[in-house]
Amino acid sequence: MAVVADWKVSPNLGLNQLVAERRATGESIVHLAFGEARLPPFAPLAEQLAAGAGRNAYGPVDGRLAVRTEVADYFRRRRLPTDPDQIVVAPGSKPLLLAVQYVVPGDVLLPCPAWNTYAPQARLAGKEAIDVPIPAECGGVPEPAALRAAIVAARARGRDPRIVVLTLPDNPTGTLTPPELVREICAVAREHDLLIVSDEIYRDVLHDPATPMLSPAEVAPERTVVTTGLSKSLALGGWRIGAARFPQGQWGERIRAGVVSVASEVWSVLAGPMQQVAEYAFAEPAELRARLAASNRLHGAVARAVHRIMVGAGASCRPPTGAFYVYPDFEPVRDALATRGATDSASLARFLFDAFGIVVLAGHHLGDDPGALRFKAATSMLYGDTVQEQSMALESGDPTALPHISRLLERIEDGFAKLSS
Ligand SMILES: Cc1ncc(COP(=O)(O)O)c(C=O)c1O
Repeated sequence: MAVVADWKVSPNLGLNQLVAERRATGESIVHLAFGEARLPPFAPLAEQLAAGAGRNAYGPVDGRLAVRTEVADYFRRRRLPTDPDQIVVAPGSKPLLLAVQYVVPGDVLLPCPAWNTYAPQARLAGKEAIDVPIPAECGGVPEPAALRAAIVAARARGRDPRIVVLTLPDNPTGTLTPPELVREICAVAREHDLLIVSDEIYRDVLHDPATPMLSPAEVAPERTVVTTGLSKSLALGGWRIGAARFPQGQWGERIRAGVVSVASEVWSVLAGPMQQVAEYAFAEPAELRARLAASNRLHGAVARAVHRIMVGAGASCRPPTGAFYVYPDFEPVRDALATRGATDSASLARFLFDAFGIVVLAGHHLGDDPGALRFKAATSMLYGDTVQEQSMALESGDPTALPHISRLLERIEDGFAKLSS
């Protein structure tokens, strides 16, 4: 029987499965290849989930007014005045991102590297994904001059770039684009009449709460769709709670109507109990903000520790300020790595797995140059395997000194010390 394409499982989910299989055979593996905030669910969230069990009706496709009102207020508190009718909630932000791609015609411009789902989603929607290099100082946005050049070049070969996707803060680099660069990108988007899709799922995962974050929706409100969710900030990936904010005006309304239409044919609604959780979480009560602050301190401390190890091993690496990733570049020690058979992104990742049992996501899976010696390490995978270890990590003033975390950090440090020596 024929299938219409060479279907692959998303590489991070695929690696996650592989690690589970190898661990089941007793192998000891340091798994840094999955972007999951390994933390237990905050107890009041579980209480809301249980209390919402009676919500078994489908309800409105875009979400009940009560939850959309809380999401609108969440954005209002972030300098984005929002009407509940601009909001759609869904089972994760992933389906919302895909729905936008289905609804808005034209090709998609992506920062390179970028989260590994954007390009496959573009292809699923029949679009070309056009990779544009990120600036030296941060990821999550294309470098503005390169973006202009990519648009002109794509049009010259008959393509029609219409969407640019930004990630603020960024997966995979763990950095946040500074406000002046956000303004520059918005200016390019206006010049070339692009829709901006601003993926802000890590917005509340800043290691230092004082870091200035400017959303493109503040600068170019007429052309920016913002997506967010609770998977990362509240470690609820498996609960699947996402939301999108659409621009006011005719264009935004038409995109939102299209997304609601896709939703009505694919996932129908965000599950009723999850809407109850979302209502509580997007209202940001004090106890939830305290929990968020504790998890952000943990994300920062562990990401900085892994960053130090990578730099110590000879990599250049942007210092992480958000999310829970580092994205080292081992180009400075290319010759030493070549003696170990690590000459490109795939062979470097394979070598780390075979020699030290360390699993990372090779840069080429993120759109990066396959010849480069880069990978993503998800540092949130180091918080522990049990609820008890993860809770200790959350509560500790110095999580990297906890035995279960320091043991893993030492193993990573030992491996990387051998890598280029
Ligand atoms: C940049 C980015 N956007 C979106 C998502 C998807 O999140 P959700 O769980 O809301 O579908 C992820 C998850 O890995 C992500 O890293």
